Amino acid sequence: MRISIVGGGYVGLVSATCFADLGHSVILIDIDEDKVDAINCGKPPIYEKCLMELLSSHVGRDLRATSDYGSLVSSDLTLICVGTPPLPDGSADLSIIESASALIGCALKEKETYHVVAVKSTVPPGTTQNLVMPTVLKHSGKNASKIGFVMNPEFLREGLAVQDFMNPDRIVIGSSNELASDTVESAYRGIDAPIVRTGLIAAEMIKYASNAFLATKISFSNEIGNVCKKLGIDVYEVMKGVGLDHRINPYFLNAGLGFGGSCFPKDVSALIHLAERMNVNPVLLRSVIEVNEQQPMKIVEILLKRVEDIKDKRIAVLGLAFKNDTDDVRESRSVLVIMALVSRGALVAAYDPKANVSMRVILPEIEYCESASQALTDADAVLVLTEWSEFGDLDKEFDLMRSRVIIDGRRVLSCKDAEGICW
Ligand code: UGA
Repeated sequence: MRISIVGGGYVGLVSATCFADLGHSVILIDIDEDKVDAINCGKPPIYEKCLMELLSSHVGRDLRATSDYGSLVSSDLTLICVGTPPLPDGSADLSIIESASALIGCALKEKETYHVVAVKSTVPPGTTQNLVMPTVLKHSGKNASKIGFVMNPEFLREGLAVQDFMNPDRIVIGSSNELASDTVESAYRGIDAPIVRTGLIAAEMIKYASNAFLATKISFSNEIGNVCKKLGIDVYEVMKGVGLDHRINPYFLNAGLGFGGSCFPKDVSALIHLAERMNVNPVLLRSVIEVNEQQPMKIVEILLKRVEDIKDKRIAVLGLAFKNDTDDVRESRSVLVIMALVSRGALVAAYDPKANVSMRVILPEIEYCESASQALTDADAVLVLTEWSEFGDLDKEFDLMRSRVIIDGRRVLSCKDAEGICW
């Protein structure tokens, strides 16, 4: 099948590369010329495990990037993978979705045969039907018998996106149009996963509800963890006992600093906003966010108990990315922690295996180190903020510290004298 993908961000690029790997001919469309050039040279603009190798094996053969929307005419299916960033009030900004839909519509004017437009971006329920569909149809001058619409949410985790694309738990295809749904389903031929067919709006809600539920599991574990810490018990032991109940399952129960990234905070806020607009009081979702906002300050409180005055003290920070195996620092809990340290006059020495460069853009005033050892040298305390596995191997490096105050925000260290944020 010939597939065009609009938006070369992490969802669009990973999907484009993986669809090419499934045997399709793929055109990736992005308005950013630099991104297009980088992709055509086989260089992914983001770090994602296995992506570089997979991209290089397909680019120039069955995968090509371009900034020309007109080229989507030669495809059978267009997937919209553009961003839906948050507006200041927490609702989703749909302006990029709207402009992409208009450009897709204009390009489809020239198309004679049936075409399918599928939305992959995370959008508030109702968006495909009330915004994408009328915009594409208006600009194409066609009616719904010529263009089919589908909502096909993605469930990719950053850092594991290629693996998740190829081995999904499920593929959700939302549409009221069977031909359009069949087209999208055939794009995934070769992948062994249950197909869930729903209506358009239900598919959009499945994505929001999935992210909100996962975020709730994390905030739940953190709240239980905060109580466990007071009781002197280990929340990881508790959650192991809880998670073995198959109705709960063991995943996403790791207590710590809380969730960050470009998805959970934004999507839970958008769902809260949507609920309020529907006159539903989202008590639980608001609490999920509240626990998550308070959690990073817990590690600062523990530090202040152990090192009374941190002014002019060297505080090593290990981990800047919002989670391991990515260079993404969006909504990273590290930003809140570092800002709290800097505002108290601490001298922060930070190290992340991948995210030094991206964090420097947000927080240029702190010291960035080339290794954990460099950050730990002469440090008065260390805070571990991201669950990078290499931190688990640290041992004699802690001897480089001026004083051995080790606080773990992610349960990743193996040394005996590390204090946990909620264990
Ligand atoms: C999340 C979802 O997991 C994906 O299914 C979804 O497709 C994606 O959002 C999206 O909407 O595009 P992602 O943001 O890449 O994926 O990251 P996660 O692996 O879900 O981690 C999110 C945050 O939760 C991280 O900061 C991580 O450190 C934290 N976390 C995760 C915990 O604090 N505890 C856990 O047990 C698990």
